[in-house]
Amino acid sequence: MTMLVAADAANPLAGQPYVRPATPADDAFVEELQALAFGPGRFARTAFRVRERFPIDESLSLIAEVEGAPCGSVWMTPISVSGMRGYLLGPLATHPNFRKRGAGKLLAREAAQRAMARREGQFVLLVGDQDYYGPLGWDITMPGHIQFPGPVDPARVLLLAKDKSLARSLKGEIAAF
Ligand SMILES: CC(C)(COP(=O)(O)OP(=O)(O)OC[C@H]1O[C@@H](n2cnc3c(N)ncnc32)[C@H](O)[C@@H]1OP(=O)(O)O)[C@@H](O)C(=O)NCCC(=O)NCCS
Repeated sequence: MTMLVAADAANPLAGQPYVRPATPADDAFVEELQALAFGPGRFARTAFRVRERFPIDESLSLIAEVEGAPCGSVWMTPISVSGMRGYLLGPLATHPNFRKRGAGKLLAREAAQRAMARREGQFVLLVGDQDYYGPLGWDITMPGHIQFPGPVDPARVLLLAKDKSLARSLKGEIAAF
């Protein structure tokens, strides 16, 4: 016990999540994690339908790890709305055994930062809880302005952009890049 405390004191990052790019070797972990987090009904969710139509950008798929153990995942899908190019974030999930350590927020922040560093990353859209994503910079969009290929709760359609007014002004159907 004493040794554990000493080791942690020597390494303040012990137990802290960090992210890395996903590789094909992570596929089974990600599949299991998404099944665990969203259940069998996940394929009927509107955000999953977007990803069926438009493939994810695998170069933006990230894995969170704690001390070498994969514990979370996020995907990004290139989309456009009214000719403006951006990304749909999700699914974002962390394993129940590793929650409340900051892995979820780290994945959301990192994926968004990497996407928006690209010329075509003008916004990052997602369907999620404003209480969770609001403090990370996402704003609620105008109800009905962004049209998904299925029903969504308008209060959960959130947008991150350098130009904060975009969340109110962006309007149109989700289309391919
Ligand atoms: C949502 C989820 C990704 C959070 O992962 P996490 O690694 O625990 O996230 P973090 O550690 O960064 O943040 C945890 C904090 O967010 C809070 N939080 C978690 N889900 C929340 C939600 N839906 N709304 C508001 N706050 C939430 C936690 O209570 C915790 O608060 P605390 O720090 O005050 O204790 C994870 O719970 C999960 O995989 N859930 C199932 C799938 C899901 O709902 N994904 C999001 C869909 S967009």
